[in-house]
Amino acid sequence: MSEHVQTQVGSGGQAVGQVGGQIGAQVGAPVDVQASEPLFNPLSPDFIRDPYPHYERLRNSDPMHVSAHGAFVASRHAEVSQVLRDKRFGKDFVERSIRRYGPQIMDEPIFRSMSHWMLQQDPPDHTRLRGLVVKAFTARRVEDMRPRIQAIVDETIDAVADQGHMDLIEDFAFRLPVTIICDMLGIPEEHREVFYKSSRGGGRILDPVPLTPEEIAEANMVNAMTKMYFEQLFELRRRSPGDDLTTQLIQAEEAGDKLSNEEMTANIILLFGAGHETTVNLIGNGLLALYRNPDQLALLRANPSLIANAIEEFLRYDSSVQMTGRVALEDIEDLGGKPIPKGENVLCLLGSANRDPAVYPQRPDLLDITRPNVKPLSFGGGIHFCLGAQLARIEAEVAISTLLRRLPELKLDDPENPKWRPTFVLRGLKQLPASW
Ligand code: HEM
Repeated sequence: MSEHVQTQVGSGGQAVGQVGGQIGAQVGAPVDVQASEPLFNPLSPDFIRDPYPHYERLRNSDPMHVSAHGAFVASRHAEVSQVLRDKRFGKDFVERSIRRYGPQIMDEPIFRSMSHWMLQQDPPDHTRLRGLVVKAFTARRVEDMRPRIQAIVDETIDAVADQGHMDLIEDFAFRLPVTIICDMLGIPEEHREVFYKSSRGGGRILDPVPLTPEEIAEANMVNAMTKMYFEQLFELRRRSPGDDLTTQLIQAEEAGDKLSNEEMTANIILLFGAGHETTVNLIGNGLLALYRNPDQLALLRANPSLIANAIEEFLRYDSSVQMTGRVALEDIEDLGGKPIPKGENVLCLLGSANRDPAVYPQRPDLLDITRPNVKPLSFGGGIHFCLGAQLARIEAEVAISTLLRRLPELKLDDPENPKWRPTFVLRGLKQLPASW
């Protein structure tokens, strides 16, 4: 059967948002942030460049701060991890969006599509949707992908090895997660070039600052193009089923009561976006942190078996997802000293919780790949705990350890002035030029 499907996705890779620095501040030391600055201004260039002094100020002065947009901002590990696991908090996506933008917001295709993501659903719908795909992400299934992951990383390095120069984001980190999620979704090889070439824009949709009408229009356009591609992929996989997640969801949809067509499309788009941007940024942020800390780089080179712990430390030190949120489903008497009325938003600063000295008493602002008991909140917690956590860990492990082994002379061109993407929730680099 022909695998012909038009690949007119345009910048489809950004559909879901698609889904560090050497820190001078030490625990207890004065934080170098102007006292007059708002405590939480997450899209300001200074915050994007280095959010960690801002987090320290929040934790020390107002750990359940109320933001300019009226949300409670939880910055300590205790409250963040409680909210993620507490059943009195949920997503309440439709009500939350209507409260912020007015009832007409649910006429916007991007908001309607997001309302079907498992990531934005509460039980019982969340349980049903997650149950349909969870088996593809078990530790065993993901471990079986290791040889394929290794082969992709080796091919990527083969393609640039003679050049002596590359952008570690575009030429290295990007290709692996996109290829793996395309494999998992059954996207034929000949359709992939458009995804490899797509610009890594978007991401603003996840930030806790309301979108402008222009940003909503742009997100609608990207969503429409991505939907158009996936609808054609559904047609292909109906005619020609494969051993992939798309075929699995089509079969569940055809069975009748398991999921609707809209839910299928929305969740495939979610998986596509969540499955790559975050992992590109884990690899990029991890490499930046490592090369800015030459002692840790030397340690990892001398002891490659430290890689698994190093990945946990990279996740903790400069997470590629900085925040998620919940809504109080009932009046909460006390969270970190404040009452939270029903319907109020709580922003959970994962990146701040990961540096909380209450949990990491040994200099949380230092990168230490031998740190014991690193349990970052970067993959969230509770019922929405990241489905792709183990996959992302293995991809980053193989990518970073292979790069160190195969290009031992590699150096970053300008480690002190990295170019960050302008989004807050998804924290990652625009580019990271390196030479060898
Ligand atoms: C470093 C890489 C990654 C990070 C830091 C990350 C982070 C997160 C976080 C924080 C959540 C929970 C959000 C919440 O509680 O509201 C989440 C959920 C999710 N992640 Fe990831 N993620 C990563 C990689 C991946 C990959 C590779 C995939 C898929 C291939 C994936 C798929 C998902 C899905 C489907 C959910 C929703 C789960 C649910 O709602 O039950 N993620 N991720």
